[in-house]
Amino acid sequence: MDYFEVLEKRYSCRKFTDQEVEDDKINKILEAGRLSPTAVNFQPERIYVCKSKEILEKLSSACKYTFNAKLIFVIAYDSNVSWKRRSDGTEFGPVDAAIVTTNMMNAATALGLGSTFVCSMHEDKVEEILGLPNNIKVLSLLPVGYPAEVKAHGARKNIEEIVEYR
Ligand SMILES: Cc1cc2nc3c(=O)[nH]c(=O)nc-3n(C[C@H](O)[C@H](O)[C@H](O)COP(=O)(O)O)c2cc1C
Repeated sequence: MDYFEVLEKRYSCRKFTDQEVEDDKINKILEAGRLSPTAVNFQPERIYVCKSKEILEKLSSACKYTFNAKLIFVIAYDSNVSWKRRSDGTEFGPVDAAIVTTNMMNAATALGLGSTFVCSMHEDKVEEILGLPNNIKVLSLLPVGYPAEVKAHGARKNIEEIVEYR
């Protein structure tokens, strides 16, 4: 699948079959995360691969949007490592973690898998479940699996509504 086909085909998949995601696909998704660009190349991302029944159950108590997936990546960043812009102190860890999540999500599509970028959760609870220290901040969950249905991505605005040439 070429890159633009991936962008066109990807949609937020919220229904998965019971088929387990193979380790080689998990590793490819992780590699897509690892190759992601980060501010100043500080690479503050931390990725937790959640597969055990116990952890998955706990995660579903902290987030309504786990969709019964048998595989959930939790994408976080280390706030001790992430870049802070000098001019205004803006912290770029969440931006870096969002780029990592996006690349992993698109990689999942390219591998014939479904996923959804999820940020609505009790992030403190997720951090507690994973036993993370205070400097590791959770940005997103990425439930991944084989899609149980074929859908299209959501409607988008026209290009004229979002782009201006100056
Ligand atoms: C930053 C971000 C946060 C999101 N959080 C959630 C979420 O918590 N729960 C959920 O079901 N979908 C979530 N989504 C998925 C969006 O709802 C979805 O991408 C959007 O409706 C467009 O649909 P599409 O991905 O099928 O094109 C999130 C997407 C992004 C980019």
